[in-house]
Amino acid sequence: MEEIIIRAIKSGDLDAIVGIDARVLGKARPEYWETKMDLSQTRSPMASLVAEVGGKVVGFILGDASGWEYGIPETIGYIDTIGVDPEYQRHGVARLLVREMITHLRKVGVRTIYTYVNWRDGDLLRFFDQTGFVRGDMVNLELKV
Ligand SMILES: CC(C)(COP(=O)(O)OP(=O)(O)OC[C@H]1O[C@@H](n2cnc3c(N)ncnc32)[C@H](O)[C@@H]1OP(=O)(O)O)[C@@H](O)C(=O)NCCC(=O)NCCS
Repeated sequence: MEEIIIRAIKSGDLDAIVGIDARVLGKARPEYWETKMDLSQTRSPMASLVAEVGGKVVGFILGDASGWEYGIPETIGYIDTIGVDPEYQRHGVARLLVREMITHLRKVGVRTIYTYVNWRDGDLLRFFDQTGFVRGDMVNLELKV
């Protein structure tokens, strides 16, 4: 495979990201991604990235550094979503995206990174396990209303 280039996300990446998401999940969610991309303008720069191979966007990561919302200190960063085009999976694209994001978040003082993964999502769980993530102290609470 050609070299993987990681760069900051920009609004023009919307279509590529919608396409990757549709190939991963089997359904297109353009409105959902439009809202998410709008929000990513307010996120920490360089915490949301894309991976390009041969000029084509093949993967993305959306993340941020936390403010003090809900009593969470500023040393916390989080990964909101990560996705890699199925045709380009298992070539280290996601690993590079996470590594680059961590480098940038560390520079702004982040020392711990959170992410939420559905426990039935084996691919993501194995990926995060391989990347060094472990179960944290935060407890996921939910109430059906
Ligand atoms: C999980 C995901 C991000 C991994 O992307 P990737 O670029 O293929 O991951 P990498 O190649 O960097 O993998 C790094 C390591 O993680 C582990 N890993 C990654 N995918 C794995 C899988 N499907 N099964 C087992 N281990 C896996 C492996 O140890 C791998 O190293 P190796 O290939 O040398 O064995 C990708 O499979 C994906 O996008 N899944 C869908 C995620 C999703 O639902 N996102 C929301 C909607 S887009």
